Amino acid sequence: MSMKYLLGIDLGTSGTKTVLFSQDGCAVCSSTVEYPMAQPQNGWAEQDPSDWWNACVQTIKTVLQKSGINAEDIAGIGISGQMHSLVMLDENGEVLRPSILWCDQRTAEECAEITERVGAERLIEITANPALTGFTASKILWVRNHEPEVYAKCRHILLSKDYLRYKLTGEFATEVSDASGMQLLDVPNRCWSAEVLEKLEIDPTLLGKVYESPEITGYITPQASALTGLSVKTPVVGGAGDNAAAAVGTGVVADGRAFTTIGTSGVVFAHTDKLSIDPKGRVHTFCCAVPGAWHVMGVTLAAGLSLKWFRDQFCKAEIEAAQGMGVDPYDLMNAEIAQSPIGANRLFYLPYLMAERTPHLDPDCRGVFFGLSAMHEKRDLMRAVMEGVTYSLNDCLSILSEMGVKPDRMLACGGGGKSEIWRQMLADVFECPVCVAQSEGPALGVAILAGVGAGLYPSVKEACDQMIHVSSEQKPIQENSQSYAGKYEMYRSIYPDLKDTFKRLAQQ
Ligand code: XUL
Repeated sequence: MSMKYLLGIDLGTSGTKTVLFSQDGCAVCSSTVEYPMAQPQNGWAEQDPSDWWNACVQTIKTVLQKSGINAEDIAGIGISGQMHSLVMLDENGEVLRPSILWCDQRTAEECAEITERVGAERLIEITANPALTGFTASKILWVRNHEPEVYAKCRHILLSKDYLRYKLTGEFATEVSDASGMQLLDVPNRCWSAEVLEKLEIDPTLLGKVYESPEITGYITPQASALTGLSVKTPVVGGAGDNAAAAVGTGVVADGRAFTTIGTSGVVFAHTDKLSIDPKGRVHTFCCAVPGAWHVMGVTLAAGLSLKWFRDQFCKAEIEAAQGMGVDPYDLMNAEIAQSPIGANRLFYLPYLMAERTPHLDPDCRGVFFGLSAMHEKRDLMRAVMEGVTYSLNDCLSILSEMGVKPDRMLACGGGGKSEIWRQMLADVFECPVCVAQSEGPALGVAILAGVGAGLYPSVKEACDQMIHVSSEQKPIQENSQSYAGKYEMYRSIYPDLKDTFKRLAQQ
């Protein structure tokens, strides 16, 4: 039998990455196309779904051309994407307005409306989470409250990757992991909640059909085939939200396993075979991509975004030098960070550029450098940014440990996971070994799901065992861990002191 291939598409916030894998999980070819994020007001974040679709078409074409494989040998396609981001389509399937993204904070009033309509306790019982500005339901209500003429024309509500599915297969569908982040799903029972939809007065026919993540949801249409070069016979499986996809891609598919992603957002994620909910709602509980299981995760909204913001605003010299040397600007930034000591010469950074979910659930807080001195150099600021994001991820891990999740090792993925100095910092602060998975988590994760859907593997767990290759482990260095521990305590005390002032700032 000839070699089969699997295609994983990951629609991220900074760009879309498409990776072609051989059926044993080796990356054959990959392509990324970037696009901008618009911030029309402080705390707002939007993208144009046509940018996503163009990037999807372009990256698929590129991997097919570069690899030279026969499109008929692709056994299945998996799609993954930024969670929660709202896409509204009219009766002709045309996009009605820019997507309101996961990190957008405009919906505090709609969250209060949701809590009032459903009841705080009942909402957590059904959707496993309190009403959150980041989740899709409050974004839907915002459009209804502020743009009633758009809402009146809306016939389909989709998430980002499910919009790609519609363009690729013509089907309006989603799957349990991403649907969990809409706050309209009955998370314990893995189906739309008639009760929540009724109380929020959202017409259920606006929503797509809900599948489990490895199930086949449709096949490439002739139009999509003509645009991309894919074969019309190729199945597209449910796929997963980017975090649930990264879990599969790093083998976090059984109890006791956990991973950390540093992409635009940062996530600490643990698998759980039994439904487990933080009564204070500080971490999210969602269905995971393994049928019949769930996960808990904490989210830092501006993780990689913090360093990217710093790079774009203050590192023009590094960007130019890197171009000349043919390296990534982050490599040069990492080298500079290594020149600053642990604690960045007594400088702290709170990564709340887009407000924060875990642990504060506060749409009004913003980023802070604390302790700036005339002795600080740029490298200290960069180190403080990396340390601040790492402390924030440690906040996520602390809550998971309170809930009884104590991983004995952590997998790292996402752009930040590629940085050796960042992985060592994670190992030192988390006080547990950090390993790096060979490929980008989400794209591999959904390729694995496609392998299961296409019948190449009998289960997600068995596919992971065959397709994931984990490399190099970094152990915590005790002396560093001790030094970080005191600094982390200091970091934790800054937000409570500023909390009320952030509220006043939001009213300025
Ligand atoms: C998760 C979340 C982010 C996005 C990033 O709840 O909002 O991690 O999925 O793409």
